[in-house]
Amino acid sequence: MNSHDFLEAECTALAQAGLLRHLRTVMSAPTGTINLDGREVVLLGSNNYLGLSTHPRVIAAAVEATRIYGTGASGSRLISGNSEHYTTLESNLAKAKGTEAALVFSSGYAANTSIIPVLVGDGDLVLSDALNHASIIDGCRLSRATKKVYRHCDVEHLRALLSESAACRRRLIVTDGVFSMDGDIAPLPDIWEAAAQYDAMVLIDDAHGFGVLGQDGSGTVAHFGLEGKGIIQMGTLSKAVGALGGYIAGSHALIELLINRARGFMFTTGLPPATLAAATAALEVMRASPELRHRLLFHACRLKTALVALGYTLLPSETQILPVVLGSPERATSVARALLVEGVFGPAIRPPAVPPGTSRLRLTVMATHTEAEIQQAIAGFAAVFPT
Ligand SMILES: Cc1ncc(COP(=O)(O)O)c(C=O)c1O
Repeated sequence: MNSHDFLEAECTALAQAGLLRHLRTVMSAPTGTINLDGREVVLLGSNNYLGLSTHPRVIAAAVEATRIYGTGASGSRLISGNSEHYTTLESNLAKAKGTEAALVFSSGYAANTSIIPVLVGDGDLVLSDALNHASIIDGCRLSRATKKVYRHCDVEHLRALLSESAACRRRLIVTDGVFSMDGDIAPLPDIWEAAAQYDAMVLIDDAHGFGVLGQDGSGTVAHFGLEGKGIIQMGTLSKAVGALGGYIAGSHALIELLINRARGFMFTTGLPPATLAAATAALEVMRASPELRHRLLFHACRLKTALVALGYTLLPSETQILPVVLGSPERATSVARALLVEGVFGPAIRPPAVPPGTSRLRLTVMATHTEAEIQQAIAGFAAVFPT
């Protein structure tokens, strides 16, 4: 037997379980309608929630930065890749988040897998929501801390686990702010209270709350009025901000330690100047344009109401993420395929991204969807139901 034979065997096993994934090619900008593999379809699968990746001011900032500074950072941030764009962006992120400082990483994945091992290690305990994002799960694994998973958004369960943690050196609670596949919001005030009682740190992943929730779109912590409570805020620049990158916002001491210990910060090249300039411009547009957030949530509400009226089962999301639960991977992919025929792209999400038996379409709207696009999406869903 050839030592590479297992590759094909593993792919065959994935295909038999309905879990083999294929790449699609997008041949246009991520606007309300895209060209997907050569066909025009309404896009219900983008994290470009506010449409900022194609905003003229954001594009102009990226073009100008490239013209002056070139295309790449050319080094890690600790060597020669710390372009001056980082300073402005990090200071604006800290202001938006109400923290002393912020640090940008090359992705949200890198931010989560880097910070958790800095906060906890051998002899410590990390408590993680059952539906946390894969980057958090991987960060917990890398940390070598003992990991305990509490039931989704179940603060009583969290408290029970905390009450057994007296022997641990440090405790860290980590949760998505807005859950990426479910669209619900973590019960942060109760989590914070439990953390305060048991002297635990709280890390919130606000990848999907930033730009959407709270005053000025500053995220889940602001949504609950918990600024200044010491909650460490992770987020991404790749979703509502429309660029690329991750960040951690917290105290000066935290940021200094990350610069010195976070391996996904130290051992990778800095982001391109265009990306940093685009993110900085996008933050300005985000703050100055509350109507984008309002329109986003209006579209979400409208689509959700229409789908429920058609008979679809949606999870109780409070945000722009609308999960249509279909059960098996095969059912999710077949509904997604039928929708594509109707000119609507609503991506099927299967394990391991979601728990077995909960395969779904994860629909997301954008502030920049037109009324006609939302109508077309609803008509597509009407045409494929019941499947
Ligand atoms: C909740 C959550 N955290 C982290 C990430 C990773 O962010 P990025 O895509 O910037 O690596 C994502 C997105 O994939 C996410 O949904």
